[in-house]
Amino acid sequence: MNVAIVTGATSGIGKEITLQLLEAGWKVGVTGRNEKALSELKSKAPAQVYAASIDIEKPAAREELLGLIRQMDGFDMFVHCAGIGFYEENLDFKLEEHTAMTNAVGFVRMVGTAYQFAEAHPETFRQIVVISSIAGTKGLGMAPSYSATKRFQNMYVEALEQRARIRGVEVGFTDARPGFVDTPLLKGSRFPMLMNPQAVARSILNAARKRRRTVTIDWRYRMLVALWRLIPSALWVRMKIRK
Ligand SMILES: NC(=O)c1ccc[n+]([C@@H]2O[C@H](COP(=O)([O-])OP(=O)(O)OC[C@H]3O[C@@H](n4cnc5c(N)ncnc54)[C@H](OP(=O)(O)O)[C@@H]3O)[C@@H](O)[C@H]2O)c1
Repeated sequence: MNVAIVTGATSGIGKEITLQLLEAGWKVGVTGRNEKALSELKSKAPAQVYAASIDIEKPAAREELLGLIRQMDGFDMFVHCAGIGFYEENLDFKLEEHTAMTNAVGFVRMVGTAYQFAEAHPETFRQIVVISSIAGTKGLGMAPSYSATKRFQNMYVEALEQRARIRGVEVGFTDARPGFVDTPLLKGSRFPMLMNPQAVARSILNAARKRRRTVTIDWRYRMLVALWRLIPSALWVRMKIRK
């Protein structure tokens, strides 16, 4: 049986990825803070699911993740979905700092720990998958901390990939960058071109299976990102993009 660990498995994209992996017969380690949601996943497939309540903002999360990895005897695929984001009409600093803590510090804690395990146990090939966002490709005025932390995630993965090549570690990376997905993360606001989380999870798992390095989801967002990459910064910062 293939073994995966999914962080942020209690909701949205991570939950869909978990359900699709279970359907395909994988053993899945699921993490998040919502214990009720973790128990529900466990009860769906008790023999396949290993649940661990982990808050990635807390330093203890690193040891807790290592505990889960050991309990599962390693992993073939690690999928980091845990993350938060806010549409910042008022630039609330509590939210800005919270976003940096979860999406940057918590991200390093989880993805760095998974990578370190792969480096220390090079006997098998492992795929590390992160869900960043198209929001990391340009600075977005209505979500500054979210946008900046998503770029941080892109760079962290690039750095780990170079490190893996330097040290000859058999590990692959997939950086999945979806546009707007209909999950609780976007609650309370209306967004255009919303995608359903099932389809997005399928695209992410396909990309991981093919060991694709970077994938923007879906084709409409690939076109959008290609277009806005052509816009010079001096012009970009003058554009009134709200959503
Ligand atoms: N929705 C979109 O439009 C969209 C677009 C591009 C990228 N993404 C990215 O996709 C990822 C998943 O987002 P989603 O849309 O699926 O949102 P979601 O439904 O709100 O799920 C977020 C997940 O992250 C977990 N999480 C948040 N803070 C955590 C913490 N401190 N410790 C542990 N787990 C934590 C949550 O679990 P608990 O609450 O149980 O802790 C939950 O399982 C995020 O990184 C997001 O930035 C989303």
